[in-house]
Amino acid sequence: MSNKNKVAIIGAGMMGPGIAARAALAGHPTVLIDVSQERAEAGVEKALAAMQQLLDNGLAESDQTQRAIERLVAAPALAPHLADTFLIIEAVSENLALKQQIFTELDALAPADVIIASNTSGLRITDIAAHTAHPERTVTTHFWFPAHLVPLVEVVMGDRTAEAVAVKVKELLIGWGKAPVIVRKDLPGQLANRILQAILREATNIVGMGLATPEDVDTAVKMGMGIRFPAWGPLEHIDAVGLDLALSVQKDVLPGLCNDPQPVQSFCDLVEAGHLGHKTGRGFYDWRTKDMAALSAGRDRFIIEALRVLQAGEGPE
Ligand SMILES: NC(=O)c1ccc[n+]([C@@H]2O[C@H](COP(=O)([O-])OP(=O)(O)OC[C@H]3O[C@@H](n4cnc5c(N)ncnc54)[C@H](O)[C@@H]3O)[C@@H](O)[C@H]2O)c1
Repeated sequence: MSNKNKVAIIGAGMMGPGIAARAALAGHPTVLIDVSQERAEAGVEKALAAMQQLLDNGLAESDQTQRAIERLVAAPALAPHLADTFLIIEAVSENLALKQQIFTELDALAPADVIIASNTSGLRITDIAAHTAHPERTVTTHFWFPAHLVPLVEVVMGDRTAEAVAVKVKELLIGWGKAPVIVRKDLPGQLANRILQAILREATNIVGMGLATPEDVDTAVKMGMGIRFPAWGPLEHIDAVGLDLALSVQKDVLPGLCNDPQPVQSFCDLVEAGHLGHKTGRGFYDWRTKDMAALSAGRDRFIIEALRVLQAGEGPE
């Protein structure tokens, strides 16, 4: 039985630090790696801020946090840490060639019992691991942003991922306080993004056809179905209302929904006009008057409150 217990996270940008924070809080010696020591250290600073947020909100204990801080280090390369590493999570930029190169190098470097995971949100792990000798130990672990807060992790099996690897990763992530799901086919959108994209297509369609304003679409989702989602999934909803009723609603409503395989034209038009959202000052909203920082803070407050309910065991099963 191996006693290797270290987790290595490669890529200390938006996602790596939150994942590293969770690994360290779960008790693993954790190394956060980037292209330079400086970048890796900047990532560790972000991970420490994430841990502080969890501590401040009662989602982590102070001695647990103190030990996690001691366990987390920054490094510019994996090699010195490899001997006691059992799990590597790659979280570099979403670029297939880059990820393939990293996976091929890691596969050659790491003993075959080391699990190599990618945080890719859109690429196939089968393609990322295409040039590895041991694709059976590769898997996607798709954390959602912010990774230290959002419980979901999609564990996506590639065409050659071993079932035992997916199951082991799922069990491990449960121990990290995450809510992992196994996705058995390596398809675009994994699981949750398939559902999100269906919502986004209809939301943009509703605005495009003039049925409602962006504000009213967002209010309908946030204050209607969204507010009950943490406790009430769509399939639980169908069972609650009855399959016969749900089916008859589908027969009435589905024919009128957008089922275009291409993005809605009015959405494409906004992009064409250079209205890319917050980063250009305009998208569906005017960001010169709307406050993104306040919106993000409100999102995190809601997630934290929901996590408190879940952690206290007061939530749904
Ligand atoms: N940002 C999100 O909301 C989000 C959500 C879920 C999943 N993802 C996925 O997570 C992955 C990382 O996304 P991100 O937003 O954190 O990217 P990012 O661009 O913020 O960070 C990537 C980091 O990887 C580093 N890097 C690049 N090449 C490297 C190498 N060879 N070795 C070590 N480090 C290297 C970069 O210096 C950078 O710090 C992507 O696959 C992305 O699709 C992102």
